[in-house]
Amino acid sequence: MAHQSHVNIWSIGGGKGGVGKSMVTIGLGISLARLGNRVILLDGDFGGANLHTLMGLRFPAVTLEDFLLRKVARLDDVVMPSPIDGISLICGADDILGVANPTYHQKIRLLRELEELPADFLLIDLAAGTSINILDLFNHSPGKIAVFTGYTTSLQNVYGFIKCALFRQISQEFAKDKDVSELLRQEGAGDEEVLTMDDLVDQVRSVSPEKSLRLLNLLQEFKVFLVTNMVKTEQDARSAEIIQKVCADFLNITPPILGSLPFDPLVEKAVNRMALPLLYQKKNPFLKSLDEIANRMVCLPRSSTALPSEKENSASKTSSGLLKETLQTG
Ligand SMILES: Nc1ncnc2c1ncn2[C@@H]1O[C@H](COP(=O)(O)OP(=O)(O)OP(=O)(O)O)[C@@H](O)[C@H]1O
Ligand SMILES: [Mg+2]
Repeated sequence: MAHQSHVNIWSIGGGKGGVGKSMVTIGLGISLARLGNRVILLDGDFGGANLHTLMGLRFPAVTLEDFLLRKVARLDDVVMPSPIDGISLICGADDILGVANPTYHQKIRLLRELEELPADFLLIDLAAGTSINILDLFNHSPGKIAVFTGYTTSLQNVYGFIKCALFRQISQEFAKDKDVSELLRQEGAGDEEVLTMDDLVDQVRSVSPEKSLRLLNLLQEFKVFLVTNMVKTEQDARSAEIIQKVCADFLNITPPILGSLPFDPLVEKAVNRMALPLLYQKKNPFLKSLDEIANRMVCLPRSSTALPSEKENSASKTSSGLLKETLQTG
């Protein structure tokens, strides 16, 4: 059921490892906190948490694992202060094989409690990849950011990530509509030519005009904001437009551009020395761009979220067929 939370929840994903999802999460946290917001950062990398390390904490006293395994009653109980004013943390554990792949009930409990957290902004730092739990956290967040760099592999991955998230959303929306689910299933299993979203809308229209309107509505509401990171060249700076075009051509969505962040050697230095203050004491270009993005986030209208259904908790093949297509247009 749709639900409006008092916490402004944003997920930061992007598919590829090492593109700067965690640094963008932390950087946006700093900028939002400086604007006077209470910020919580959540490490959404269940299998390989390291947000706390980047924040300068070596051994967190409590982690998300304590909540998922019911060692504490409330998610609020695992919120820890961080070394940075205005920012609290929900840490992941480094070796949480037990919860690397949470059950449906663990996940629903987590999603419900996210909305009760004492914060103005909750920023979720997602793991790399397109596993179902990553996609569900992403889709559950009213605010969605996809981070990528100008490298071709990163562009391919972020497009694949957006596509997987969109198809996960579609399969959730139509989970109870057997006719549409069957179309999606066939598409996922099929070896034929790759479909575009137009093809899919046409197919759905042929089984139900009303459902094709629902699909079009979903496409209109599915909003992923683009952030290009580590921009060094003019060409890097144009990456977001390439993603927009491919998404428009193949998925019938136009992800808005939220901003871009320059490559800044200070970021690497701050990470390597575990000295985040290096980053925000100086007025560097990375933080200046993050401030601009944070200002935009504060002004954006909020939308509501819905919880995933149990039937759809296991990985669906829905998007795999469409994913056979790669970024040939680039
Ligand atoms: N704007 C930037 N300028 C320079 N270096 C950067 C920038 N953003 C990130 N980095 C460097 O890239 C490294 C990887 O960043 P980060 O850990 O945020 O990536 P990630 O996408 O979260 O990776 P993973 O998927 O493994 O969690 C950082 O340690 C930092 O050194
Ligand atoms: Mg990371």
